[in-house]
Amino acid sequence: MPPTSKSSRRGPTHSKSASVAMDLDDASIHRFVDALTIWFDAVKRDLPWRKTRDPYAIWLSEIMLQQTRVDTVIPYFHRFLSRFGTVGELASADEDAVLALWSGLGYYRRARELHHAAQEVVARFGGALPATAEELRSLPGIGRYTAGAIASIAFSAREPLVDGNVARVFARHFGIEDDVSSTSGTRALWSLAGRLVPADRPGRFNEALMELGATVCTPRDPRCGGCPLAQSCVARAQAKQHELPRTAPKSAPRRVAMVAAVVRSGANVLLARRESGGLFGGLWEPPMVEAESLDDARKLLSKVGVPARAKLASAGSLRHILSHRELGVEVVTTSLGRECALGPTAAPYTETAWKSPESADLALSTLARKVLAVASSA
Ligand code: ADE
Repeated sequence: MPPTSKSSRRGPTHSKSASVAMDLDDASIHRFVDALTIWFDAVKRDLPWRKTRDPYAIWLSEIMLQQTRVDTVIPYFHRFLSRFGTVGELASADEDAVLALWSGLGYYRRARELHHAAQEVVARFGGALPATAEELRSLPGIGRYTAGAIASIAFSAREPLVDGNVARVFARHFGIEDDVSSTSGTRALWSLAGRLVPADRPGRFNEALMELGATVCTPRDPRCGGCPLAQSCVARAQAKQHELPRTAPKSAPRRVAMVAAVVRSGANVLLARRESGGLFGGLWEPPMVEAESLDDARKLLSKVGVPARAKLASAGSLRHILSHRELGVEVVTTSLGRECALGPTAAPYTETAWKSPESADLALSTLARKVLAVASSA
């Protein structure tokens, strides 16, 4: 059956899912847990964070895995731990060094919050990550999902978790018709997770659920033939595996036109640092402004520190997709004979400097790297 379009997957508002958790008897819970965990023990991927019991490393992996694929995370995970091997080392690091190690992984707020949380762990918990979901949730960047993951995986606490993978597995297996991101859908999913998670090795169960969602019960082409839970799956019985989970249609990303200026002098480039807090907060990039054309951009670029006399010429363009925005960026370049003194900059930047983009300690976003690549290929 072909995948259905997003709009035809919109759910009815009636709620039959709230009753799903109530219908579960102990025998079916046991069957579900056993089938899933036996399968997991046999086929689980060999991932670096599965070889450690260190709560800090498990915490780091869970933060990195949010919105990011496993393959992308692995090298970042190793690099981060070899530089900051303990919560204490991370807590006393410079934010710049933390962001530099996150450079290219995206969603930089995660790195800033991880850093702040490490400082709180030192200040409030003597450097050891707390073991309860409630205390974990009191730390920056740790929400309900991450607290459940760390408490169950690192501390064997009987805590449930629901992420996108788990939501999909549950919606299909239990035939949840509600929009999974609605209040009632979310409530039904967490209630199910709470009923199902066993006292014995809860972390293994939670990881098994996520693994099933990531490798078998996948969004587009679920491999129902290889699913340990296929026998009792409502979606499979009703041939609805391509319709569930139902989700509200996403609004189209807003298109934004930008102009980025790459001003070079020898091996250095004029870079601007974004104010902390906002998008790409604390990261360095070639100054860029929202503008439809180079003519529109010139004045704005001079306000953020690009020398007004710079003879900017187009080098090409690129597209960059963020969660709610699609950026179309025209890249303009110029070379100066020598580094000029830099004037003041303005929001969203806090400072400008001449820097070598090759420097390992430099926190550049993927967008900044793409802009620099267009400029160098011109
Ligand atoms: N996604 C996020 N954390 C995970 C884990 N520990 N196992 C499998 N998938 C995950």
